[in-house]
Amino acid sequence: MCGIIGYIGDKQTQEILTTGLGKLEYRGYDSVGIAINDGEAINVTKAEGRLENLASKLSDKPLNGTVGIGHTRWATHGRPSDENSHPHTDETTDFAVVHNGIIENYQDIKQELIENGVTFQSQTDSEVVAHLLSRLYDGDMISTIQKVIDKLEGAYALGIVSKYEPNKLFAVRQASPLIVGVGEGENFISSDIPAVLEHTRDVIILEDSEIAVLSKEGVSLLDMETANPIERDVFKVDWDMEQAEKNGYDHFMLKEIFEQPTALQNTMTGRIDQDSQMVEFPELDWSEAKVNEWNKIYIVACGTAYHAGLIGKHVLEELTRIPVAVEVASEFRYRRPIIDEQTLVITVSQSGETADTLAALRQSQKMGAEVVGITNVVGSSIAREADNVILTMAGPEIAVASTKAYTTQVLSLYLMGVYAAQKKGQITEEYRKELLESLLKTPGQIEESLEHIKGIRWYAESIKDAQSVFFLGRGLDHAVALEGSLKLKEISYIHSEAYAAGELKHGTLALIEEGTPVIALATQNEVYDKMIANIEEVRARGAKVMGVTTEGNMDIYHYVDETCYIPATNNLFAPLLSVVPLQLISYYTSLALGNDVDKPRNLAKSVTVE
Ligand code: F6R
Repeated sequence: MCGIIGYIGDKQTQEILTTGLGKLEYRGYDSVGIAINDGEAINVTKAEGRLENLASKLSDKPLNGTVGIGHTRWATHGRPSDENSHPHTDETTDFAVVHNGIIENYQDIKQELIENGVTFQSQTDSEVVAHLLSRLYDGDMISTIQKVIDKLEGAYALGIVSKYEPNKLFAVRQASPLIVGVGEGENFISSDIPAVLEHTRDVIILEDSEIAVLSKEGVSLLDMETANPIERDVFKVDWDMEQAEKNGYDHFMLKEIFEQPTALQNTMTGRIDQDSQMVEFPELDWSEAKVNEWNKIYIVACGTAYHAGLIGKHVLEELTRIPVAVEVASEFRYRRPIIDEQTLVITVSQSGETADTLAALRQSQKMGAEVVGITNVVGSSIAREADNVILTMAGPEIAVASTKAYTTQVLSLYLMGVYAAQKKGQITEEYRKELLESLLKTPGQIEESLEHIKGIRWYAESIKDAQSVFFLGRGLDHAVALEGSLKLKEISYIHSEAYAAGELKHGTLALIEEGTPVIALATQNEVYDKMIANIEEVRARGAKVMGVTTEGNMDIYHYVDETCYIPATNNLFAPLLSVVPLQLISYYTSLALGNDVDKPRNLAKSVTVE
C-alpha cells in the first residue's frame, strides 16, 4: 500500500504535495518523493525514510513549478531506499510516474526492456511504467497510456507527468484506489480524500479501467480501452478531517477489519498461479531436497502473531506431516530448544521488530536452523535478518489491536503449508486444487459477510458489563478462540479466557455461573458433536452461549442462545472467517465502554523491548 498525490494549477506545487503526503503517510512511510514539471524539465527529489527527510532535502533545494506528483511508499518490491522511492522516471526524464499497487508481470516487462537497452535505477515493479511510456510514446499521451496499460497485469493507480504535455496531469486507476479533487482553477489526484480536503470538498471517485486527464481548467475522464469520455458526478465531501483520515470509519481498527478482504487478496496476489493452480513463492529458495531434510518446524511469535502460528501448526502438520511446535518467543529464547540444520524456524511478526521474536530468530540461526520471517514491514529487522521473507500485504496497521495483519499471517501460513506439501510431493493435485479454490474465495466471503456481521453490535452491548467472558473451541476453533479472547481483553479490559472446550471440566468449569457469556466456536465438522456436548455442559451451569458456526447449520439452534453465522468453507480455512465476528465483538464492546479503541491503555503497537 502506498499513497499518491498530484496537483495542477497556478500555485507552487511543492508545498501542496508535501502537505498532502503527510495526510497519506498512514498508507506507508518508508520513503517519499515528488516530481515537479517546471514547464521545461521534470525535477525529482526523493528520500528514504519519513517526510522530514524529503523536507530537509527540499529546503536546501526547492523545486519550482505548478504541476507535480508525489508518493509515500510502503515497500513491496525492493527495500526502502532513495532509488526505490517514487516518482520513477525514464532514462531522459521525459516522464515521471507514481504508482500504488503491484505490477504482477513486471519481471517479464523489465527483462524485455533490458534486452532493448534500458537501464533500470531501482528494484521496483513500478519503474517499468516510466520506461514503457518512453518507449511507446507516439506523440499522443492518451494512446501512449493505452498502449502501456495493455502491457500491464495487476493492480495500479498511476499518476503521470510528461515533458511533452507540461500543462496536463494524467491518472489511471485499475484495482487500486484513486480520487480526483476538483478545485477552482486547480485540480488534484490522490489515493485518498484527506490529502485534498484542505483545498476542495468536491471529489470524483475514479473507477477501475478509467483514465483521468487534469488541466488547471478542468478534468475529463476516459474509458481506458476506448478512450471514450465518461460522465461522472462530483461528490461533495461532508466529513471532517479526522474522520476522513480514517476513510469515514470511526476508528482505525474498524477500518482495518473492513480492509481484510483487500489485504488477503493482496497477500495472495502473485502467489497462486491461476493456470497450474499451484502455490508460488519466488521469495523462498526451498529446493525439494531442503524441504525433505526438515524433520521439525518451530513457529515462534508473540501475542496475536503467536495465535496465527497455532493455526499454522495445524495446517503445516496436516499438509506436510512434519511435526510443528509453536512457541511464545519470550519463552523460546531463554530455554535450550532442540534445533539443528534439519529444523525450519518460522518467525511471525507484524512489525518485524518485536525484540523477543528477533532474538529467537538470531538464536535459531546460530544453532544452524533455516529461518523464514513472516512480516508486514519491508526493511524491518526480521525482514532483513531472516534467511527468507514472506511479506504479508496487509498495508500499514495503525490500531494497536491487530486484525488484518493477523488474517494475512494466517493466510501466509496456509500458502506456505501448501507450498511445502507441493515440494514434498505430499499433496494430490485434486486436494491442492480443492484447497486453493476455497482459499481464493475467502476475501469475497469476508466482504459479503462483513455487512451482516456488523449487526453483532447488539451482542457487544449485552456483554459490556460482564465480569468475565469465555471463548471455547476445539482444534482450529480453539486457536481462534484464543485470538478472540486476547482481542476482547486488550481493548475492552474485560477479563476473558479461551479454552480448549474439552479441557473445561478439568477446572475452569467452576468459573461458569448464571449469565456468564460464553462464545463457542463450532465450525469444525470432525469435532462438532463433541463441541455441542461442551456447550451443553456450560449451559447447564447457567452460561449464555453465542454459537459461531457455518451457514446452513440449523442444528445449533437447539443448543445455544444466539447464533452468528460465517460463510461455509473448507474446515481448514474457517479461522479466516470466524475471527471476523470476534474482532467486531471486541471493537463494539470497547466502544460501548467508551475506551480508546485504537490506543488501549498500557499497550504499544511495536514492542521493541523484551
Ligand atoms: C494484539 C497484538 C499483539 C502483537 C504482538 C506481536 O492485537 O497486536 O499481541 O501481535 O505484540 O507483535 P508483532 O506481530 O509486531 O511481532
